[in-house]
Amino acid sequence: MERLRDLYVEALLAAEGTGPGARASSPPTSGRESGQDGRAPGATPEGGLVGETKGFRVAAIPGDGIGCEVVPAALEVLEEIGKRLQVRFHFLTCDWGSDFYFRHGRMMPPDALDQLRGSDAILLGAIGHPAIQDHITLNGLLLPIRRTFDQYVNVRPAILYPGVSSPLSGVSPGEVDLVVVRENTEGEYAQAGGFIHHGNPSEVAVQVSVFTRQGVERVIRYAFELAVRRNGKRRVTSITKSNAQGYSMVLWDRVFDEVKSDYPQVETESLLVDAATVHLVRRPHTFDVVVASNLFGDILSDLAAALTGSIGLAPSANLDPLRRFPSMFEPVHGSAPDIAGKGIANPLATFLSAAMMLDHLGLPEGSALLDSAIRGVLREGRVRTPDLGGHSTCREVTEDVMRAVRMGM
Ligand code: NAD
Ligand code: IPM
Ligand code: MN
Repeated sequence: MERLRDLYVEALLAAEGTGPGARASSPPTSGRESGQDGRAPGATPEGGLVGETKGFRVAAIPGDGIGCEVVPAALEVLEEIGKRLQVRFHFLTCDWGSDFYFRHGRMMPPDALDQLRGSDAILLGAIGHPAIQDHITLNGLLLPIRRTFDQYVNVRPAILYPGVSSPLSGVSPGEVDLVVVRENTEGEYAQAGGFIHHGNPSEVAVQVSVFTRQGVERVIRYAFELAVRRNGKRRVTSITKSNAQGYSMVLWDRVFDEVKSDYPQVETESLLVDAATVHLVRRPHTFDVVVASNLFGDILSDLAAALTGSIGLAPSANLDPLRRFPSMFEPVHGSAPDIAGKGIANPLATFLSAAMMLDHLGLPEGSALLDSAIRGVLREGRVRTPDLGGHSTCREVTEDVMRAVRMGM
């Protein structure tokens, strides 16, 4: 335990540029440590020298449905941020997804993962088309990216912003301010199993959850590290179902208890997932960092998003905290076929995801600029998409955010 802890914490701190192994004196030329990927130390992705305009390669995958509306909008906003920061973003837009599937019989090209490997970050919209079964689209694109690049943490903040009302009565802005830390590469999503007697009356389907001690420990440890840094609450809630899932979730509970002893300054709570849905609704202000398995984290992050007024405001970061691979940033929501093509999708979840990406790329000032522009637009409330009770379009919201960025609001 001790050795594993030291290994993770050191690697995390070094990767984030704050630990003993960090190269804090040289400005980052890309999100990853330069040199790791074969580039000369100090070289920008294009081979420029440190001190010149910084360049970042961002692979953009709009995907399906409203993903094709909100991602192009986010790229425009990022261009605006780039101008303010004197940073260049090189966008590689990948036309992968369901339309690609209709043309080629697969969701992305055979070498797609290799194409992505060279990017500093990935910005994704959403995947899912009513005419194709979801397990085909998602297992053909989104889930392989998370697994191949060992993006083992999915960070999903849920914040009730000033100017937005929660569907819960009597809850004011600031009273929902939590982050779901979701295990992202194994658990219920391990995709281990199969069918026996496929299509016959005697058919059997087996779907195995896979919980490894290493996989559980690293995500729990990330949650504690986040709680230490995040704000004054310093609270981690672990959510399982160990009364019924007597192996996997019992392992999770045990590892949680072991890890928490390394963080005496952090208050902890362990909840069963059914009760947790009640507590999240009845006392959302008591939650800070919530850590859960892949499936529970998925469900709880939609619930948490709803508490903040709309899923159209919920961002996420699929992180490889050790920075061996590109991380991926995407809204929590899906392709929303019910509103796709109408131009009314809320782009703010994607903009907030882009802000998380800027932070990850070592551009905290760009992240803060975008975050405060979004907060300003929400506070003013002049433009709002229908999910927030308004009549504005995705375009109008995008323009208002760009105006706020230009004004440095
Ligand atoms: P969804 O998140 O797409 O939509 C749920 C509801 O929220 C819909 O009423 C939709 O109109 C609304 N909504 C979602 N995002 C919005 C936004 N930005 N602005 C305004 N309203 C918004 O969930 P779903 O309907 O269950 O799924 C649709 C498809 O997306 C399915 O194929 C599903 O598998 C897929 N999906 C993909 C991802 C992903 O790619 N990360 C995530 C979730 C769902
Ligand atoms: C999400 C989505 C995906 C998930 C689906 C589409 C596979 O719901 O990112 O929350 O469950 O991870
Ligand atoms: Mn989901």
